[in-house]
Amino acid sequence: MRITKTIEEVREAVAGARGAGKPIVLVPTMGFLHDGHLSLVRHGRARALEAGGADAPGACVVMSIFVNPTQFGPGEDFGEYPRDLDRDAALAREHGVDLLFAPAVREMYPEGFRTEVRVTELTEPMCGAGRPGHFDGVALVVTKLLNIVRPDWSVFGRKDAQQALVIRRLAADLDLPGRILVAPTVRDDDGVALSSRNAYLSAEEREAARALSRGLRAAARAWDGGERSREALLALVNAEIDREPLVRPEYVDLRSRDTLRDWNGEGPALLAVAARVGRTRLIDNVFLGGEEEQAGPVDRPGRTSGSA
Ligand code: PAJ
Repeated sequence: MRITKTIEEVREAVAGARGAGKPIVLVPTMGFLHDGHLSLVRHGRARALEAGGADAPGACVVMSIFVNPTQFGPGEDFGEYPRDLDRDAALAREHGVDLLFAPAVREMYPEGFRTEVRVTELTEPMCGAGRPGHFDGVALVVTKLLNIVRPDWSVFGRKDAQQALVIRRLAADLDLPGRILVAPTVRDDDGVALSSRNAYLSAEEREAARALSRGLRAAARAWDGGERSREALLALVNAEIDREPLVRPEYVDLRSRDTLRDWNGEGPALLAVAARVGRTRLIDNVFLGGEEEQAGPVDRPGRTSGSA
């Protein structure tokens, strides 16, 4: 696995792989890797293989690790966000990443940088309301990464469902290269969605954090049993959260899965939650209705010891 730090180097390495006929898969991350991130590697590689047929050469998987300052608001955790490139490089290598791109902030945003990228409407509710400017920063860095690497596929996680929708819209609207894949949420054994920010949680907070997935699961079960009342579904999530004094909800919301407009009783829904557990902000969601989560080799990834 090669580690590159400049745009020029990563482009050169990608050109080499492309010249050898390999499809290029990009997995953008902010590092402090866990099994959620690593499942994206497996997912992307499997889809590229499927598309290329058995005789095609395996994909070149490029992972970017960049804690992107433009997606953090003032007072958010940009400074304290966990960073450990040596640990990440070892995990990435072990899980078959071919090329790591870990640029410095100045490489991505050199002196004189003045451009903004903004997706409208999809960025307004939910996390967009609580984190003004956040999705502009995500859109900006993802536009840059897709233009730098020009992948055939890039892979994102459904754990950040709103982000995935914003990125799909962005890529379609700006004709960014490659196809966008969205992989299922990887959870710990107790249901908590894996997140780099779980590393901030004390043992007590980690226990309390289970309320989020517990509430979502209760609502999903009620949905499967035929419950379609917006109030009843939201109440099931809120009931679990209210039981945990360490958990303060920022939003619990039921929206149309593909447009993020208020769910009006028609079509598949996205039930999403954001909450502070102690000082740590966590998010989680489930799809209600519509297609089942994609089956396949990434549904039950092996757990990685020491993951956050
Ligand atoms: P980060 O939080 O590091 O997540 C990188 C990718 O991993 C995202 O696509 C995210 O949705 C996915 N992911 C995180 N936890 C997951 C889990 N438990 N199961 C499945 N996928 C999971 O999201 C970002 O970074 C940044 O906003 C980024 C897209 C890299 C732009 O800076």
